[in-house]
Amino acid sequence: MTEHDALVEAAQQARENAHAPFSNFRVGAALHATSGRIFGGCNIENATYGLTVCAERVAIFKAMSEGERNFDAIAVVTDTDTLTPPCGACRQLIWEFCGDVPVILSNLAGKTEMLQMHELFPKPFDSSNL
Ligand code: THU
Repeated sequence: MTEHDALVEAAQQARENAHAPFSNFRVGAALHATSGRIFGGCNIENATYGLTVCAERVAIFKAMSEGERNFDAIAVVTDTDTLTPPCGACRQLIWEFCGDVPVILSNLAGKTEMLQMHELFPKPFDSSNL
């Protein structure tokens, strides 16, 4: 199993914990730290809708809160024919905290696509603009 396969599997597992009673759109993410640790995340919705946190950001915040600062890949898994790319807010945070990492999109049928963050987020605002 490649490192990216393991990451997709971790994202699939994380998706099992998705709390998405409003959209029923269940998302799993998994972030690979250069330490070797993998952090899973799932989307967590709430009754205000607007305070929902995406799977990708849950994974990032879990990792950051455990002291991790360097990452080299992230995977996102949904149960859709068209693979789900990270939303705009998540692209901002993936860029700022992970940099130009590969983003592996996958579904439960095993369809997979890999993009680099610079393709998903070509003209970013970040600390270099400050
Ligand atoms: N969602 C994610 O978790 N990640 C994405 O990149 C896209 C959207 C979640 C948020 C919400 O719970 C549901 O999917 C529908 O938008």
